[in-house]
Amino acid sequence: MDLLIRNISQLVLATDKPPVFAASSAMVDMPVLENSYLLISGDKIQAFGTMNDCPERAGQVIDAGGRIVMPAFCDSHTHLVYAASREKEFVDRIKGLSYEEIALRGGGILNSAKLLRNTTENELYDLAMVRIAEIIYQGTGAVEIKSGYGLDTASELKMLRVIRRIKETTTIEVKATFLGAHAVPAEYQGDQNGYVDLIIRKMLPVIAAEKLAEFVDVFCDRGFFTPDNTARILEASEKLGLIPKIHANELEYSGGIQIGVRYHALSVDHLECTGEEEIRILKDTATMPTLLPGAALFLGLPWPPARKMIDSGLPVALGSDFNPGSCPTGNMMLMIALACINMKMLPEESLFASTLNSAYAMNLSGELGTLTPGKNANVIITRPVPDYSYLPYAFGSDLVEKVIIKGKILVNKESRYDQTTD
Ligand code: NIG
Ligand code: FE
Repeated sequence: MDLLIRNISQLVLATDKPPVFAASSAMVDMPVLENSYLLISGDKIQAFGTMNDCPERAGQVIDAGGRIVMPAFCDSHTHLVYAASREKEFVDRIKGLSYEEIALRGGGILNSAKLLRNTTENELYDLAMVRIAEIIYQGTGAVEIKSGYGLDTASELKMLRVIRRIKETTTIEVKATFLGAHAVPAEYQGDQNGYVDLIIRKMLPVIAAEKLAEFVDVFCDRGFFTPDNTARILEASEKLGLIPKIHANELEYSGGIQIGVRYHALSVDHLECTGEEEIRILKDTATMPTLLPGAALFLGLPWPPARKMIDSGLPVALGSDFNPGSCPTGNMMLMIALACINMKMLPEESLFASTLNSAYAMNLSGELGTLTPGKNANVIITRPVPDYSYLPYAFGSDLVEKVIIKGKILVNKESRYDQTTD
């Protein structure tokens, strides 16, 4: 069935020939077509153009009158399968403890591991599906989800099976990442090498055999995994065909970016600690630097140098990092606002970073991330707004009115509560 959206004030990121990602100054050259239409056929984008060429008839018609139409967000970095929230640690941080101090006391990731080990697959699935519904409501049409709160073989496999079930049952695109090396579990305290042996010998072979993940991740940072152990895991993963996406340089100049590039990581993520040397190493590679402004905000970390990266010729992607410890939200509209406000990214750059570039960071830029005939019809229709720059500007407002996933209207917030009084 066809769906025609007409009278669009600004059609954003509609293009016949999209690149696989946009880097540097190309991130400002964002296609915007005013007074336009978008035609969807089945689950795919069919055509777009100005209203002068708008087709006469189609199945269902939406009059967008004054609204912007853009690709749904792609969120290439989340940990949204978890057993419980961690607001107590949030309060501890308000009172002065640091994220690392909380982790050292058995809080943080180890706290989430303890909780997850005692939660069933069904319970985890139900909890995660509530979060999936929430991010769809906020305009996300594709999401990467990591394991990493299991930290033993059975629990890591349990998480990955939950992610597989989400993938099979939700309409949005889901990609699975194995993050067994998220933290050293309590049983292996003081023996990081031993835990890495367990990952390599016991976890990775099953995950590869059962095709439970496409990507592999390591938290390569101060207090977490060393560059040497990261390299060992990536070496073993490479042989099994898993593609790296690395947590790097969040807490320190950890060498994670260097290792990521050396092992042809699809993305290196966080990057609060990125200097000239790291930028030089990332230049002209296929590794997408991915920034997670929600985590930087929530933990009070220095902002990743997005401006410097883009001005030096790099691409940048944005993700939410949705997780209970460092970013308890997956709201991508908020991420673009934080990127513009705190990292001085331009609205156009933030939109490229949260759509096409984040699709690339999940190996999905051939199917998603721009409004291109033949790509999947994952589309946001905004509330009436004056210009696309208003989206990151009016942070905190819910500016997503309709969300269309694979050609189906999944979210429609058109009717607001009635404010009239008798
Ligand atoms: O991406 N940095 C490592 N891991 C997560 C935090 C996970 C947690 O605190 O539960 C992150 O920020
Ligand atoms: Fe993360």
